[in-house]
Order: sequence, then structure tokens, then C-alpha cells
Amino acid sequence: MENPFKYGCVVSGDHFCERRKAERELRGFIKAGQNVFVQGERRMGKTSLVRKAVEGVRGERLVYVDLYCIGSQADLCRRITEGVGRANSSMPFLKRVMSFASRLRPTLSFDSQDGSPKISVDSLAADEPESLGVVMDMLEKIAADGKTCVVFDEFQDIERLKDAERVLAEMRGRIQFQENVPYMFLGSVRHEMWRIFNDAKSPFFKSAAAYDVGEIDVGDFSSFVVSRFEKGRRRVSIGMAGKIIQTVCGVSGDVQELCAALWDVTNAGQEVTEADIPAALQVVFMRERKGFEKSVSILTPLQLRVLQEIAATPKAKVFGGEFLRRVGMANAGAVSKAIKRLEDHGLIYEMDGEHRFGDSFFRQWILGSV
Ligand SMILES: Nc1ncnc2c1ncn2[C@@H]1O[C@H](COP(=O)(O)OP(=O)(O)OP(=O)(O)O)[C@@H](O)[C@H]1O
Ligand SMILES: [Mg+2]
Repeated sequence: MENPFKYGCVVSGDHFCERRKAERELRGFIKAGQNVFVQGERRMGKTSLVRKAVEGVRGERLVYVDLYCIGSQADLCRRITEGVGRANSSMPFLKRVMSFASRLRPTLSFDSQDGSPKISVDSLAADEPESLGVVMDMLEKIAADGKTCVVFDEFQDIERLKDAERVLAEMRGRIQFQENVPYMFLGSVRHEMWRIFNDAKSPFFKSAAAYDVGEIDVGDFSSFVVSRFEKGRRRVSIGMAGKIIQTVCGVSGDVQELCAALWDVTNAGQEVTEADIPAALQVVFMRERKGFEKSVSILTPLQLRVLQEIAATPKAKVFGGEFLRRVGMANAGAVSKAIKRLEDHGLIYEMDGEHRFGDSFFRQWILGSV
């Protein structure tokens, strides 16, 4: 029997726990033609949620462009054109796209497995400075029907480009006149997304409404977990589902990963209980241990001590005598330096004055193993 839980990929259908309020709010932005930047922690469910929200607007077409590890302007032009090509596989549409992008010398091919069309562009042509304007204009033309939403995922990676400022300025220059096209910019590295949309020097400064994707409502997620276990012939109480969610701090992808491991370590017809959690965590640690050990190996004893204290106190407030006492260090300066290092390593982050782990399994591992 197949594991009823899925993680590490975009989820839809049965694998997607409804997030009605968030879906409604995002649809409101799309219908109003409002550009929005969607941010949230890793694996919180941003991509799945946005795709679901766009699909739910009647007749809306999605142009989805993933900018993960983008390498150059030519790469950007290529990804945008491919994203447009995937939005609709009808021949008249593809021909229009080819003509709008003619300057980039596009070619149309069909996948040998599933026959799906793909529009590729010539990389030398795509590298010419004018090409970015061409593909941005193409977005406006294909969205002239007022029924197309453009999603740029992992948008913060655009900052990796050596000419990022120029690219951002050019995109912004076009987008601001495209009143008919709702754009969504998704990203997870908070301070980079923040810089792009909130730094007065950035071309995208205050150019889109901010939307935060947080945890799924715990009641809804618990019911979802119960019904997925039922589907996989295991029993779990609603209280136990809540406990599972809490163990990984409500991070959607981690909840599904822990549930998948719990399903693996239990048998058909069995009731899943708290006593099964340690074995399930071990399944996850087996996969992750090397990375965790590497992360810890570069820390000083004080940094490790601070990390352990933060692990033991979810949503830790790290400033103040009580925290210093628990860490066993009177020197507040040294402790804040250690915290800064842990943030720089991407192990923890600060939100609303609280410090949290970027990876909730790493937190569990620190609690149990170090
Ligand atoms: N609505 C949902 N219901 C149930 N599980 C979900 C939901 N959304 C996301 N997940 C879980 O989280 C995982 C990651 O989802 P998704 O890729 O949408 O998140 P993300 O925030 O875009 O992640 P990343 O930071 O890696 O881009 C999924 O594989 C799934 O396990
Ligand atoms: Mg994503």
C-alpha cells in the first residue's frame, strides 16, 4: 500500500489540506489585479497554496516561473518563455507565444514521453539586453484577456544575478504599467524578500502587497492528518494529530514527513500513539544525520549551548537574564554574538522577537542527540 503522506513536492487534491481563508484572500488579490509578494518559512506550503488559489479563480490561467538558482538574464528569459508555453498547450496559443518571442528565435518541441509542448529560446539571443523587455511585454500580451496570473517563485534568487539591480529595474519598469496582469512573487529567504520589497533603494520598493503564509489552522490540519491515516489504514486520535503537528512546530512539509515516517513504522489497523514518535523521528534522522552533524561540527561550545537552549524553549526569547542564566553565561554580548552566528549559518531565525529553528527536525535531533 502506498504511503498516504507526501512531502518535498507541491501538493494538490487529496494531499492538500484546505486553507480556505488564505485561498480566499489570495483570490481577492488576483481578482483585484493586485500584485502581491507572498513570503513564509521554508516548506510552509507557499507554492501549493498559491497554485491552488489561482486554479480556483474561474477561467484564470497560470504562468508559473520558478527562479530557483537562476543563473543569468538569458536563463530568466528562457524560464519565462517556457512558463508561458506551459500555461496553455493549444496550437494557436503556442503560435502566438512564438511570434511574440520571435526576437529570441524560439523553437517548439514535443516531449517524447507525454507529448507536452515546450518552447525553447536561443541563448545568445536571450542574452541580449533588449530580450528581457521582449519577454516582459510578451507576458502583458498573453495576459491581455484579463485572465492570466503570473507567479514568480523563489523570487529572491534573482538577487544572485550579477546584474540583479538592472534586471529588477527593467522588470519593475514593465510590470508597473501592466495593470491587467496580477503578479505574485513568492519567496522564503525572508531578509532577501524584505530587501527587494521594503528597501527604499530597491526597484520593487513597496510595489506589491505583502502576504504571509503561516501555519495551517491546527484544527483543520489535525482533521486532515486523521483522515489521511484512515486512508492508510491506521487510527490516530485528533489529540495525537495535534501532538504530531506540535512536534514539528506546525511546518506543513515537516508534518507530512513525520506522518509518513509514523505510517512506515506502524502496521495496518494499528493505533498510532505518542510512543511511536521516537521511532518515526529516527527514520527521518537516518536520512538527515550527516547534514545535522556537519552543522553542529562548526559550532563553538557556546554556540551549541545557545542552540540547545533555543531548542528546549520553542519560540525562545533570547534576550534577558533568564535566558543567560539557562545558558550559564553572564556575558550578554558573547551570547548575542553566538546568536548572530547561528542566524548567519541559517540554523535559526528571528520572528516577532522570538527565535526559532529553520528546520524543526534539526531541533528535535538537537534535543535528543546532542
Ligand atoms: N495545504 C497543504 N496541506 C497539506 N500539506 C501541505 C500543504 N501545503 C504544503 N504541504 C506540505 O508541505 C510540503 C511543501 O509544500 P510547498 O512546496 O508548497 O511549500 P513551500 O513553502 O513552497 O516550500 P519551499 O520553501 O521549499 O519552496 C508539501 O510537500 C507538503 O508535504
Ligand atoms: Mg515553494
